[in-house]
Amino acid sequence: MKKQHIGFELSIYENEEDLSRNEQKLLSDAEKARENAYAPYSNFKVGAAVLLENGETVIGNNQENSSYPSGLCAERVAIFQAGAKYPGIPIKTIAISATSKDYVVDTPAGPCGNCRQSIIEYEQKQKTPVSLLLRGQIGPIYKCDSVADILPLAFSSSFLSDS
Ligand code: THU
Repeated sequence: MKKQHIGFELSIYENEEDLSRNEQKLLSDAEKARENAYAPYSNFKVGAAVLLENGETVIGNNQENSSYPSGLCAERVAIFQAGAKYPGIPIKTIAISATSKDYVVDTPAGPCGNCRQSIIEYEQKQKTPVSLLLRGQIGPIYKCDSVADILPLAFSSSFLSDS
């Protein structure tokens, strides 16, 4: 038996000004998108902004439903819209911003497991990393260089056949 440690480097920014202009803008787009989230059941609003290689930005926010599982997370609303509107254009970065009506979110919320899997599909397809910028309502900004960092041992289409 052998053991292997799997880890990754997380960049933590205390000051927004330390991000590039493009990153600051993307985070601000995610924050704006968050305001239009439809989250009457959880009171937890999430906004996402996807930056594509062609310079376009596509946004999304969580859309809840009285039949809870029918709702969708902000990240998937955004990346599926990017895939629908700009098929084949690689995704560079996704910025995610979360707030609650009930308390001050001061820690960045990472994407849920389903969203990680959905984002990594694009990363695997385009063969270039999708980086993530995460922030709560206040507090530090987390940057991950690749979604693979936060989804170790990820499933991929390579498992579906022998070739
Ligand atoms: N949510 C997201 O939009 N993204 C995530 O990655 C985690 C959770 C939404 C789903 C639901 O509308 C609310 O946050 C509470 O789970």
